[in-house]
Amino acid sequence: MKNPTPSERITRLRTEIARHDKLYYNKATPEITDYEYDLLRNELADLIARHPELAQAGTTETPGDDRTEGFAKVRHLSPMLSLDNTYNEDEFRNFVTRVEKLTANSQPHFVVEPKIDGVAVSLTYENGKFVRAVTRGNGTEGDDITRNVETIVSLPKTLTGEVPEKIEIRGEIYMTNAEFLRINAEREKAELPLYANPRNLAAGTVKLLDPRETAARKLEIVLYGIGFNGPVMRNNPPRGEPASMFGALSQFHSALLRWKLPTVEFFREVDGSDAAWQAICDLDKLRRTFAYPTDGAVVKLDSFAAQSHAGSTSKFPHWAIAFKFAPEQAETRLRAITLQIGRTGAITPVAELEPVELAGTTVSRATLHNADEISRKDIREGDLVVVEKAGEIIPQVVRVVLDKRPAESTAFDFAARLTELGLDAERVPGEAVWRLKKPSREQQIRALAHFGSKQCLDIENLGPAIAESLINADFVKTPSDLYSLTKEQLVTLEKFGDKSADNLLVAIEASKNGELWRLIHAIGIPNVGMQTAKDLARHFKTLDALAGATYSDFRRKLVGKKGQELKGEESVVSGVGGVVAESILTWFSDPAHREFVERLRAAGLNFSDTTETSDAAVNEAIAGKTFVITGTLPTLSRDEARDKIEAAGGRVSGSVSKKTDFVLAGEEAGSKLTKAQELGVTIIDEAEFRKMLNDAKTSSKSVGKAEVTHLAQPELF
Ligand code: IVH
Repeated sequence: MKNPTPSERITRLRTEIARHDKLYYNKATPEITDYEYDLLRNELADLIARHPELAQAGTTETPGDDRTEGFAKVRHLSPMLSLDNTYNEDEFRNFVTRVEKLTANSQPHFVVEPKIDGVAVSLTYENGKFVRAVTRGNGTEGDDITRNVETIVSLPKTLTGEVPEKIEIRGEIYMTNAEFLRINAEREKAELPLYANPRNLAAGTVKLLDPRETAARKLEIVLYGIGFNGPVMRNNPPRGEPASMFGALSQFHSALLRWKLPTVEFFREVDGSDAAWQAICDLDKLRRTFAYPTDGAVVKLDSFAAQSHAGSTSKFPHWAIAFKFAPEQAETRLRAITLQIGRTGAITPVAELEPVELAGTTVSRATLHNADEISRKDIREGDLVVVEKAGEIIPQVVRVVLDKRPAESTAFDFAARLTELGLDAERVPGEAVWRLKKPSREQQIRALAHFGSKQCLDIENLGPAIAESLINADFVKTPSDLYSLTKEQLVTLEKFGDKSADNLLVAIEASKNGELWRLIHAIGIPNVGMQTAKDLARHFKTLDALAGATYSDFRRKLVGKKGQELKGEESVVSGVGGVVAESILTWFSDPAHREFVERLRAAGLNFSDTTETSDAAVNEAIAGKTFVITGTLPTLSRDEARDKIEAAGGRVSGSVSKKTDFVLAGEEAGSKLTKAQELGVTIIDEAEFRKMLNDAKTSSKSVGKAEVTHLAQPELF
């Protein structure tokens, strides 16, 4: 193939970058690492510098745009610029030389800080009160994510001491590695696709439309910069003049500490190029001990006056640069590609690697995600591959070292491998995943172990080992066969004595009376994890109602304030997005699954929600009423308050509207309280709430258990 012309290459790079921008900013599911992405961008920038005639005022040369549907748009008082970046010491030194010239200073005074690998955010505080949080968006206008940022417990919502009338404080929202791993472990259990790294999970989480869901995933924040700072100019749109209260970033950093706002752990003031470089190297040694993920150092002029002197382009300031630390990578041999079969029959390719040391651990396996990923990267067995830890956590195969490819290698044929292994699989339309058409023995074992697990029907002693012997002995094919097992059968198995056989049979019998959510989780609908099963049980109340549901019972068209139809959909059942809804409908439409359900019914399993509010517990003051909980209550956590409301027959919503009956407000209640006041909704505190709980005589009327409130919730991932 002949080499592309610069123009061809530029066109190709633009298309690729635009595709990756979309994956990164709008879907939070990147296919390449940040490092690879930066390389594409740098290549494009270099080519354009050499061929300025090919420059185009297009979108792909500007930083991406994170704005998404479903959020109010807010204009930043001062634009949110991005940073120019480099991976190279020489380029960094050139930056300092440019700054020296621009500011006519041979030893510019810089601050050096970590570059946090999170999601950029701009917070507005008015007279010390937190009023708004907005994403970068396109730099000029972003999404209002206030309700989600309110869930960040470590962010003070009130600043004390000397505070400006109005200030935009810039920073990053991030997720700790521990929280990322916790959420991915849960998703792995539910066989949901895993998130690539903490940054993407944080990006997806700030864009959830249900703040309750955001609160269930712990986000953190770190602040480092000023957008706008000054008096509110009512008729004069503010122009984002540099901070009047502060002369330099170092002063602002001290103010952040005084206000108890979370800020960077490493903040070094230095003069000139050598000291700045030294600080970057010191930071690299320390950064793994920080609470937040870091992917570089940011070097900025300290003085705001000097910053103004240096100026900015429309995208980057001339007074700052990000020095990015190249991620640790290692080369190793890909011994083989194996296929892993999940509980629901999903087939995941796995790279079996020659063990290699990478960022402190030995890596011998890495997920290859799906068949498309293998062909996109043309990964072949026997290849020498480059592995990297995505977000420094999960190992990934970045690329193949093509010039070391063995001559005899052939492209990996996913479909052929399936045939070779005797796996009868199909690709689910609209999904990247291949699934087995009929259950394999391995899948049967997993399905049975899942059915009996703690998070499902909680059948004591039915672990993977027992599940395996039951399947291998052909006593059980599907979990419904458990209910016709006999003691005579069990005692023939190696693992069983008289007593253990009895115990298992008792546990199986007891499982018939489990709560409905356990059964919904146990039957193994793809994409339905424990939490979704709980939400479904609460909403549908019987398995038959769930089985008979149509798409519109899960999702409905978005309707605007004036009743007009909007683009997009919202959930009818909290936590159920389009993908989950489709998955449930597909599952129940399979005659084999219907038969399975009938066999469970015949075995006597409980098909309805037994956690229904008992008549005696229904509280007339609360039943049927919609509550919104905001702020920190003196003694109850939000979850406890929610449980009490729901147990008394009320419902809890995440947002205040005219339909809200009560706002239960605690300390530092923010915009929801203001909205409630505007709409004239009754506001109660915890004491009044407790009075309602105790006072109102419970009625003997039969009122169904509270339904989960319907919140807009598009499928983001
Ligand atoms: S200063 C005018 N400082 O990285 C730009 N940015 O890739 C001022 N970031 O847009 C930004 N840590 O979202 C600054 N300590 C830090 C940072 C930081 C992370 C983000 C920020 C910026 C992006 C550029």
